[in-house]
Amino acid sequence: MARPQTSFRCSACGQATLRWMGRCPGCGEWNTLVEEKAAEPAAERRPGRPRAAGAGKPRKPVALAEVERADTERLRTGSDELDRVLGGGLVPGSVVLLGGSPGIGKSTLMSAALARIQGAGGTTLYVSGEESAAQVRLRAERLGEHALEVPVLAETALEVVIATLEQERPQACVVDSVQTLWSSDLTGAPGSVGQVQEVAGALDRFAREHGCAVILVGHVTKEGTLAGPRVLEHAVDCVLQFEGERERSFRTLRALKNRFGSTNEIGVFEMRAGGLTEVADPSDRFLRDAEPVAGSCVLCAMEGTRPLLVEVQALVAATEVVPPRRVASGIDRNRLTMILAVLARHGGPSLGSADVFVNVAGGVRIEEPGADLAIALAVASAAREQPLEGCGGPAACFGEIGLTGELRYVAHADRRLAEAARFGVERVIMPARCVDDALPVTRAGPVVPARSLAEALQTALGAAGRRHAA
Ligand code: TYD
Ligand code: MG
Repeated sequence: MARPQTSFRCSACGQATLRWMGRCPGCGEWNTLVEEKAAEPAAERRPGRPRAAGAGKPRKPVALAEVERADTERLRTGSDELDRVLGGGLVPGSVVLLGGSPGIGKSTLMSAALARIQGAGGTTLYVSGEESAAQVRLRAERLGEHALEVPVLAETALEVVIATLEQERPQACVVDSVQTLWSSDLTGAPGSVGQVQEVAGALDRFAREHGCAVILVGHVTKEGTLAGPRVLEHAVDCVLQFEGERERSFRTLRALKNRFGSTNEIGVFEMRAGGLTEVADPSDRFLRDAEPVAGSCVLCAMEGTRPLLVEVQALVAATEVVPPRRVASGIDRNRLTMILAVLARHGGPSLGSADVFVNVAGGVRIEEPGADLAIALAVASAAREQPLEGCGGPAACFGEIGLTGELRYVAHADRRLAEAARFGVERVIMPARCVDDALPVTRAGPVVPARSLAEALQTALGAAGRRHAA
């Protein structure tokens, strides 16, 4: 009988089997067997046999200061937002994984990036496994200048893709998507863990050997994790997440992992008829409709190195439903639950019999802890049906809330305040512990320091803020 070409290995315990099974016979875990190429029936080394010459020879470790610096020039994608998230552009020889739900604009973002690289005199290749070349062209026609100059390869066979890359040697290559490519060495369907690993492994080798920047596009499952390619997160240099609501036009790009830059940066884009446009001044966009009404609070957030003003909105509605609903969009739901508990305990309204909805206007997602105070004040203001006192304009704030009701220190108070001042926000409530940081800009606008949530409520809503909601 011919020797099988592939075998399966348990990703939990390492047990190898010849055929696929739902449950690993070694450790009993379900769905952990991953297909891999069978090992060469090599002249296996038995214990005690001499090693091949050169194998296992010691080498001299080098002091880090003597290691040569890899000062490779980055490949600029021509989009400031994308370049910033990447840490200054694509690094030649690196592999980037771009994840996002279907229809969010991954292909559009990548087509536009390749177009600009091509336009700047670089060489590129767009490998499309999902769409035909004609479909890729149709999109490119909407993207304007240089988009039609990008060479496209509609192909799903990994071996063909690699051979083409070897021949073309582009500086940047997009594979859209990594789940559609398959290697004939494996029997698994495209998108299976084994196939995805094999595809990424081969592209990774090519990238490193030839200094090509490879971008793998991947899909995201309903649960919001990178499907299949989750296993790739370790293997690639950079993981980008493209997110937003499909019905809204704003999109944010975040780095979840970046070996060549910070993971705090976000890029903000807007989907328009002519492709994705960069939003250079997101605060302006997100704050345009903010009004000083009950349930609204402006948050001075920091996203990476960039201050960002967004409006947090809350609605509180009496309900008979048990347990009452807690709906959060743009913020973490667990965080909201925590804040409601602290509010109830430390001078805010008790909302045990009310539905609470919290939304960050514009469809952005805020992940930093400095958002706590804005959520708390928006909810308290909604429960009281009383606007926050903001001296005419909308009231703004930032600060993390601790479980004991104290306002905790968050970084970059000065930059947050400077951004608020730029938009004429008259009054910013912030943790007293941040005052020292804020000193350089306190002249820009009245700063209201508060030591605790109760104090912030008192300042923002007056004495009535302490009363419990009906
Ligand atoms: P696409 O990039 O194909 O999404 P993904 O690759 O993430 O699945 O594009 C998503 C949507 O963007 C598509 O429904 C149409 C819309 N779109 C525009 O609004 N304007 C444009 O210029 C383009 C190219 C697409
Ligand atoms: Mg696509």
